[in-house]
Amino acid sequence: MTSFTKLFSPFKIGSLDIKNRMVMSPMETHLCDKEGYVTDEIIAYYKERALGGVGYITVENTSVDPVGRVNDGMLCIHDDKFIPGFKKLTDSIHAVGGKIVLQLSHAGKEALPYFTGTKTVSASAIPSPLTKEMPAELSVEEIKTTVNKFAESANRAVKAGFDGVEIHMAHGYLVNQFFSPESNVRTDDYGGDTVRRSRFAREIVEGIRNRVPKDYPVICRISADEYTGTGLKLEESKEIAKRLEKAGASAIHVSACNYASAFFNIPCYYLEEGCFIHLAAGIKSVVKIPVLTVGRIINPAMAENILQENKADLIVLGRTLIADPHFPNKIKEGRLDDIRICLSCNRCIESISDKKLVCTVNPYIGKEDVSHLQKTSKPRKILVVGSGPAGLSAAHLLSSRGHNVTLWEKDSQLGGSFRYASMAPKKEPMRKFLDYLINQVKKTNTSIHLNKEATVESIKQFAADVVILAHGAKHVLVEINGSQKNNVLNVKNAFSSADSLGNNVAIVGGGPEGCELADYLASRGKKITLIEMRRVLGLELVAHPRYHVCERLKKMGAQLHINTKVTEIGHNYIVVSRRREADQKLEGFDNIVIPTLHQPNNAFAESIKGFVPEVYTVGDAVEGRTALEAIAEGAEIGMKI
Ligand SMILES: Cc1cc2nc3c(=O)[nH]c(=O)nc-3n(C[C@H](O)[C@H](O)[C@H](O)COP(=O)(O)OP(=O)(O)OC[C@H]3O[C@@H](n4cnc5c(N)ncnc54)[C@H](O)[C@@H]3O)c2cc1C
Ligand SMILES: Cc1cc2nc3c(=O)[nH]c(=O)nc-3n(C[C@H](O)[C@H](O)[C@H](O)COP(=O)(O)O)c2cc1C
Ligand code: SF4
Repeated sequence: MTSFTKLFSPFKIGSLDIKNRMVMSPMETHLCDKEGYVTDEIIAYYKERALGGVGYITVENTSVDPVGRVNDGMLCIHDDKFIPGFKKLTDSIHAVGGKIVLQLSHAGKEALPYFTGTKTVSASAIPSPLTKEMPAELSVEEIKTTVNKFAESANRAVKAGFDGVEIHMAHGYLVNQFFSPESNVRTDDYGGDTVRRSRFAREIVEGIRNRVPKDYPVICRISADEYTGTGLKLEESKEIAKRLEKAGASAIHVSACNYASAFFNIPCYYLEEGCFIHLAAGIKSVVKIPVLTVGRIINPAMAENILQENKADLIVLGRTLIADPHFPNKIKEGRLDDIRICLSCNRCIESISDKKLVCTVNPYIGKEDVSHLQKTSKPRKILVVGSGPAGLSAAHLLSSRGHNVTLWEKDSQLGGSFRYASMAPKKEPMRKFLDYLINQVKKTNTSIHLNKEATVESIKQFAADVVILAHGAKHVLVEINGSQKNNVLNVKNAFSSADSLGNNVAIVGGGPEGCELADYLASRGKKITLIEMRRVLGLELVAHPRYHVCERLKKMGAQLHINTKVTEIGHNYIVVSRRREADQKLEGFDNIVIPTLHQPNNAFAESIKGFVPEVYTVGDAVEGRTALEAIAEGAEIGMKI
């Protein structure tokens, strides 16, 4: 077993003493109020992470200028009126022995004008790759004003009790827009060669240095590689890092990408773990100040190795700490099996486009105050039907809280539909998470029964005080002309019997399940034809995995048809119809897979209500959705009863 000696060795950035080498990455939560003030919710969220043992917390990007505020989910520090709220936050973190740094940010052309109500600004008038909005080029005078806004905000951070500041110079935000040859074509002192393009950043660091105590940590977060054709590359970023060091930066936090390469910035499960470590190592080779590395570091052994191999000085954990705030303490206590691992599914980042942060595996975001287990004073006899994510989540909490829980699963294995979620290539995190969930339930006193199908009669005989129906959706095969009489498969059967399928497979329905099945079969050498009637493949998938699975399918040569409806299925053919085109017959298939509808499954609930005092239905049984809702609803009932 790995010993985590380096990971738990203390470290220092300027005046900031850090108890271990783990740092929480800045991540927007949208838990502030609409004006950008700190709320009790946000305090509870960060306090939970401090209690979890991380070396220091970096609070999410906080706006130094209303013009650079992306949307109304972003914290603000552009005025003294925000200081008291932040003071309450830093006091709460310090009270539990934590350390806390604030990320200062200006989004430049990536702010949303419909929200700010003003034109966006940037180094040059080059549109945002995301919004396509054309920004105004900042004048030299406006540049000086913006530098001052960063410095004033840093001064406020000191007054609010922060232990340091991090300047957001990465991810295509304003400072990055100045660094990048892609977005900076100025011909004055702020554009041109590397020295001129980094002048804005240097002035910000120097401006901040003049407004904060000596040795106060001023950390610079950069995108060392923008992962775009003409953007920053590591070699140029090394020069930038050296200049930042000279200007007075205390550490360099090495991230990657901009808005044009956003599908790589928060690496989902299709990208390798630790995919940006080489960038940190590159920067570390040219500076003397500490270097921080980030990017899908979910494995404690990998974190220790990075430090042992001297590729970075500090390990930055983003989603790992959204998923499990107690990741650091669990490693320290040797409880690796108890870590609720991040799936790298990116539901979190998608959620904050219009609402508060959510996480597939952690149902307690924004509810940190109530998440601590409270034992029941009235233990009850509870039957949970179904062992998918919803049933496991409910059974674990109810049992841990002292209820007498029995779990019935009609299948021979635990896990429900989520077992299929881990079968497609690159989706191993789903398997690991399911193992974690099962393991957590097995550690409780839950009485688990496999091959046990709940019926109205067996539920009656069991005589529970409470029944939780977590028996999943009603799966109904989509009816297509000919599908009844010909040899068709559903998605789950196709996953389970992949090896016995022929070489040429048609998959009708390019939703999430169809795309992942196509990936699974194509990776096994099958020739795939995937037909989707909507205009996008994998529509319900999170944007990042959707992009990558589609790229994979294209690379493997799968025949992808969108805007195409299957109107007939024959023994080895399908007939497809497209608007304004004659119907076409696609032939030669060994197998044809057709989609399943996931419908609400409430018949059971109605039949048992008469004799069970309390009945709850959770997860896909309510409505076919995803593991996120299943886990959240299981947990809600688990905390409530
Ligand atoms: C191929 C595929 C990929 C997916 N990928 C993802 C993903 O990446 N991310 C994500 O969030 N979601 C994904 N999902 C969806 C996710 O698996 C479901 O939303 C989730 O499993 C629903 O959980 P649940 O507990 O409500 O129901 P289920 O997981 O369906 O579990 C219900 C359980 O109840 C059992 N049961 C049914 N009737 C009875 C009975 N009478 N008695 C006893 N037991 C019974 C069933 O056997 C089953 O084990 C995927 C689904 C599939 C099929
Ligand atoms: C929900 C969410 C919000 C984020 N917000 C910010 C932010 O405010 N500032 C920032 O620099 N990076 C932000 N990021 C990027 C993360 O800091 C981090 O670089 C990224 O998630 C990769 O690290 P990880 O693999 O450890 O999660 C955000 C990421 C997520 C998932
Ligand atoms: S939503 Fe997914 S990617 Fe984000 S923290 Fe949770 S498990 Fe990780």
